[in-house]
Amino acid sequence: MLLPLRYLVSVAVTLTSNYHQAVAAPAPSDPCTAIAGQTFVLPADVLACERSFPFNETLRQNVLTTVSRVFDFYTFENWYLDSPPPFQESTNNIRANLSRINTTVYETDYDFNIDLYDFTTQMNDGHTRWFTNCYTNWQNILPAPIINVEINGTQGVYIAPDTVEFISLIGTDFTDILDEMGFDWQRLAGAQVTAIEGQDPYDYADFVADTVSGNFLDHGVRVNSAFSSYRISGTDFSQRLGDIAGPTGVKQTSLDVTLITVNSTTEETVSIPYIASFLGVAFTDQTSYWENNCAANAATNGMDLRNSGSSRASLTTPRRQIAKGNIIDKSNDSAVGLPPQFVPTAPQVNGSEGVIKNFILPDNQTGVMFVGSFEPDDFDQFQADTVAAITAFQAAGVSRLLIDLTNNGGGFVCLGQFLFQYLAGSKIGYPGFVSTNRANPLAQKIVAADIALGNDDTITFYSADNWAFLNDTEMPENFNYIDPSLPFTVNGVNEPTSQRFHDTCQLSFTQTIPQDPPFPTESVAIVSNGNCASTCAMFSTLMNERLQTKIAVFGGKPGENVEFKGMAGNQVLEWADIDTEIKTAGLKDDPLAPPDLLVSADFRHNWRTAWSWLNESIPIAYLSELPKLRFPYTLDTYNDPQNLWVFATSQLFS
Ligand SMILES: *[C@@H]1O[C@H](CO)[C@@H](O)[C@H](O)[C@H]1NC(C)=O
Ligand SMILES: *[C@@H]1O[C@H](CO)[C@@H](O)[C@H](O)[C@H]1NC(C)=O
Ligand SMILES: *[C@@H]1O[C@H](CO)[C@@H](O)[C@H](O)[C@H]1NC(C)=O
Ligand SMILES: *[C@@H]1O[C@H](CO)[C@@H](O)[C@H](O)[C@H]1NC(C)=O
Ligand SMILES: *[C@@H]1O[C@H](CO)[C@@H](O)[C@H](O)[C@H]1NC(C)=O
Ligand SMILES: *[C@@H]1O[C@H](CO)[C@@H](O)[C@H](O)[C@H]1NC(C)=O
Ligand SMILES: *[C@@H]1O[C@H](CO)[C@@H](O)[C@H](O)[C@H]1NC(C)=O
Ligand SMILES: *[C@@H]1O[C@H](CO)[C@@H](O)[C@H](O)[C@H]1NC(C)=O
Ligand SMILES: *[C@@H]1O[C@H](CO)[C@@H](O)[C@H](O)[C@H]1NC(C)=O
Ligand SMILES: *[C@@H]1O[C@H](CO)[C@@H](O)[C@H](O)[C@H]1NC(C)=O
Repeated sequence: MLLPLRYLVSVAVTLTSNYHQAVAAPAPSDPCTAIAGQTFVLPADVLACERSFPFNETLRQNVLTTVSRVFDFYTFENWYLDSPPPFQESTNNIRANLSRINTTVYETDYDFNIDLYDFTTQMNDGHTRWFTNCYTNWQNILPAPIINVEINGTQGVYIAPDTVEFISLIGTDFTDILDEMGFDWQRLAGAQVTAIEGQDPYDYADFVADTVSGNFLDHGVRVNSAFSSYRISGTDFSQRLGDIAGPTGVKQTSLDVTLITVNSTTEETVSIPYIASFLGVAFTDQTSYWENNCAANAATNGMDLRNSGSSRASLTTPRRQIAKGNIIDKSNDSAVGLPPQFVPTAPQVNGSEGVIKNFILPDNQTGVMFVGSFEPDDFDQFQADTVAAITAFQAAGVSRLLIDLTNNGGGFVCLGQFLFQYLAGSKIGYPGFVSTNRANPLAQKIVAADIALGNDDTITFYSADNWAFLNDTEMPENFNYIDPSLPFTVNGVNEPTSQRFHDTCQLSFTQTIPQDPPFPTESVAIVSNGNCASTCAMFSTLMNERLQTKIAVFGGKPGENVEFKGMAGNQVLEWADIDTEIKTAGLKDDPLAPPDLLVSADFRHNWRTAWSWLNESIPIAYLSELPKLRFPYTLDTYNDPQNLWVFATSQLFS
């Protein structure tokens, strides 16, 4: 296939066209000018801009000092020294990696940042990652979403049959570039994939799961991330490209896929081009690229909330700080819809305006709640929607409930507990987990300072009135729950924690909880693709540990396990959150305190542990709890939620 010259030597052509404009302002060597103002750009051109910023030792020391001091708060640091099975793959000597990155010679700022990004990504904890906006504000898009389905009893890897409908939704700005290249991507729809980059396609999916996906401790769940799947984005049905076809950031310019197109018997290898999608802030040249996307801005670092007259609780209702447990899936930023043929046609019932979509299946017996996220715009409306849906199901005489958690990235910790409590009834008592945070010296100073300063739960997460004793009495705000600490040892390392405590989510429940379950708990089942993170993982683990709910996971590699909870930390703090805690405690000048970041980035971390009901010395993150049932996707179900629900109903309820 012949590509027009412009695409084969895009960097050089770019330089030439800049040369022609050189009489005007931009320097002829400014590779960022060449890609300014465009949403879709060739990856090589993006890389030329990104790699044009020289390595800067001041920035490295700033970033690594912050990252290293935030790791002091990370609940799982010492678990990583020898991750227990089946999570051995994530074993990582975090401090050794930090010192390696401190001494590596880097040519560019990009190389340093990507090394740090890859290291934290490959820890596979979606709560604990370095996101450098300068280089992660891009998504590479392959016009060939890859799926894993069983056909005629054999699982295999294919290019999604709905490729034309799906990729067209990205828009003509995207597809025009492919057309100009003369690249016929439409003919690939539905092709059987026999190799990717010369490897068995499942081996390549493993490679992507190990190096690109991150977020989920469980390998099987990350394999599912590699493939394309349905989800809710915002409040709409959407198709996720998958991490093979839609990785965060720009590394590859194309992917060599060996395939057999539909109705053909001939194997061919096609070099499929990636096109990068820009998710950041508009710029005109290298200087403004840096200023708008790479340099720290007003939102990068935290603030002292003592005299600000405001709390950071951005949502309308709760009076206090709202704990979050979620992952960041950058691919959501460029989300497009689900091709219309896959949008459920069963009657939708009340409570479906937000992140939950509720349907009654054609059997008239099964209500489906597709809980796309626990992070709605409106905290109280989520609760109202839950009640509206259950009420509507009961009014319709539905006798059983199927909950779909596919690609639910989590959200507000207390909404996971609310949904569990509503389905389990109030008689079950406390709807959360026993929790702790890490009793490092700076954390102990923060709690002591919060007590001395009278800081409470309206401006801090550390103050004791965020929590309850194990008898569910709220702790007084001057109670020191972290000093004295509790001894704990993991992998031979002394790892003291705070006292054990409960959440106080019930204070934020705005709907009346029924005493008894609205549906018999054996008539409630869960389906997902295992990509159920954080608050979603906590919700499904509560359902499993306390109600023994039947859970089915779809997808995964044949013969390999997939957990139903892929990433089960507890509360996450963004960099700005922990920095705000430190500043609000008046401790920013403490020698243990991390400095403000000079670059636009986030270093988030898992700040609290959730201890399992089944074994209170194991965090749920490290307890393998397998789904009771596993099913492969098929051509009927891989992207069609309603078909999947009907199939699941036939298998899960008898
Ligand atoms: C490195 O970055 C710092 C902080 O942004 C800046 O002040 C300094 O000028 C940079 N050094 C070089 C050599 O560009
Ligand atoms: C990196 O190494 C240098 C030289 O040993 C040391 O002075 C510096 O403190 C280290 N930086 C960090 C963030 O640990
Ligand atoms: C450093 O991190 C990488 C990726 O997260 C991991 O593969 C490697 O094993 C780590 N190195 C050490 C010494 O633990
Ligand atoms: C599946 O089996 C049917 C009937 O034997 C056959 O017509 C069809 O080609 C097979 N499909 C694939 C992808 O093997
Ligand atoms: C995903 O993107 C949608 C649409 O831009 C947005 O409304 C929603 O808040 C995003 N969700 C998350 C979890 O970031
Ligand atoms: C494959 O063959 C079937 C049966 O002849 C036809 O209906 C279908 O359109 C063909 N698909 C493609 C992509 O050529
Ligand atoms: C379900 O209810 C609808 C509307 O009342 C009715 O048309 C349909 O026949 C019912 N289906 C079954 C399987 O009973
Ligand atoms: C659905 O919501 C509407 C408006 O709130 C309400 O009037 C109606 O009774 C609800 N239907 C069911 C079945 O709960
Ligand atoms: C709950 O436990 C705390 C701490 O042990 C204790 O001070 C408090 O009196 C208890 N509350 C009730 C109602 O038992
Ligand atoms: C709980 O986990 C610990 C640590 O892995 C283990 O030593 C202990 O035997 C477990 N207890 C039970 C009851 O399974």
